Amino acid sequence: MEESTQPKKLTTASGRPIFDNQNTQSAGARGPLLLQDYFFHEKSAHFNRERIPERVVHAKGSGAYGKFTVTHDITHLTRAKLFSKIGNECKLFTRFSTVGGEKGSADTERDPRGFALKFYTEDGNWDLVGNNTPVFFVKDPIKFMDFIHTQKREARSNRKSPTMMWDYWSLNPESLHQVTILMSDRGTPYGYRHMHGYGSHTFSLINAANERTWVKFHFRTQQGVKNFSDEEARLMKAEDADFAQHDLVDAIDNGNFPRWTMFIQTMTEEQARDFRWNPFDLTKVWPQGEFPLQEVGVMELNAVPENYHAHVEQAAFAPAHVVDGIGYSPDKMLQGRILSYPDAQRYRLGVNYEHLPVNACPFGFSNYQRDGLMALGANGGPGPNYFPNSFDGPVEDKTQGEPAQELDGFAARYDRNEGPGNDDHYTQAGNLFRLLDKQAQQNLINNVVGAMSGIEGPKKDLITQRQLCHWFRADVRLGMAIAKGLGVDAEMPMEHNTAAVTA
Ligand code: HEM
Repeated sequence: MEESTQPKKLTTASGRPIFDNQNTQSAGARGPLLLQDYFFHEKSAHFNRERIPERVVHAKGSGAYGKFTVTHDITHLTRAKLFSKIGNECKLFTRFSTVGGEKGSADTERDPRGFALKFYTEDGNWDLVGNNTPVFFVKDPIKFMDFIHTQKREARSNRKSPTMMWDYWSLNPESLHQVTILMSDRGTPYGYRHMHGYGSHTFSLINAANERTWVKFHFRTQQGVKNFSDEEARLMKAEDADFAQHDLVDAIDNGNFPRWTMFIQTMTEEQARDFRWNPFDLTKVWPQGEFPLQEVGVMELNAVPENYHAHVEQAAFAPAHVVDGIGYSPDKMLQGRILSYPDAQRYRLGVNYEHLPVNACPFGFSNYQRDGLMALGANGGPGPNYFPNSFDGPVEDKTQGEPAQELDGFAARYDRNEGPGNDDHYTQAGNLFRLLDKQAQQNLINNVVGAMSGIEGPKKDLITQRQLCHWFRADVRLGMAIAKGLGVDAEMPMEHNTAAVTA
């Protein structure tokens, strides 16, 4: 059929051409309006329903499509088809984000950045929903909701509250490592292209011999790390609140495709059993000297979605989405997230959110789930909707099994900080400070002083001193410098009762 040169006709959602899209139907030229003007009703009613709930965290974000290319062989570690051959390519979708702010908040806020990837593999979609930091604020998922509340608005003032944040962090020393990163220059990255990304959790790789290796994923920016200073970030909030969105879209539109090199760190099951601390603790990194980075491939972003809402806003990433050859680990945070994301997305996008084009597996899916709101597509057609059946419905694939995992112990609520090394919240935070050059150390100190200066109210001294104890325990020089910046007598925090801070 020949393509028409006529412009497309404007129609109602049910396909009826619209005669006039500029003037409502009225009784006489001056109105009032007629109830029967369906063109107007449809337009107005749809408009009133345009907003969907924003993500409860990571509401502000930017997305792009791209590809992942395998450059190194890791088939001895995983049987995932994606990694089966050097040169394999896989389409992917990425969404970067800030964490605490609402959908309209500024891109340059001091905050971790989300680094969410969806690999459209032949084995199904693999989502790696990480951050630009290798660790996190808490190590048990039951603590996540309280922590996030401290990053949102205070109940009465409806403002962000440094008092809430530092009250929580000072009562949760396990946050210190991540707080140190947050307060460093890395807390205000220059857009999304100039930061590293991390899967953060420990996952597992499973090979063709059904052997398991623990793994962490790293994505190192090929653009070079670049951060805003605290002041630059603050000024950019006023100049261009959408700086990171512009930066990403402009780079891709200009053919300047951002790239990241993917590496893994691996640990055997035996090494994990004997490790100095719980290797599944998300507040600590695996030292790279002992567990070196191994190169795997390269990720390139090369296409901006044509419609933000359809692709970026409706994207649904879930740590639950792994594929054959890649598995979970006992990391309690990861386990909590397996439940949380699809639950949030059923609320945010509806029960059939995985049928939306950005979320759908391009290689198809077949199961017995039917109906529900917005069942897009064939909804299983005339096929059977129960299993097992005698009518050629989809069957299980017994090749997909994982090796049995040895577990021990009694069901209980175990103290997350008990056991060798697990209550050491200070060494890695202090090491990070000592690793920074002089200027970066000073920036960290200034940023902490600036942020802690916002603590107010009757508990100001208690919270300040409790948090100072943590900085001292990470590094005495760091503690002294922050105390001095805050005008606090440096002897005071050292004498403070440390029982409160190790709770
Ligand atoms: C988004 C929960 C920890 C990275 C979300 C969302 C929820 C959530 C409910 C919104 C999902 C949606 O509506 O689509 C949790 C819980 C956590 C946790 C319960 C801990 C138990 C983490 C950690 C990381 C992370 C440790 C990174 C290592 C992200 C990212 C997004 C996100 C990147 C945005 C994904 C996107 O771009 O759509 N989280 N989260 N979260 N979370 Fe978490």
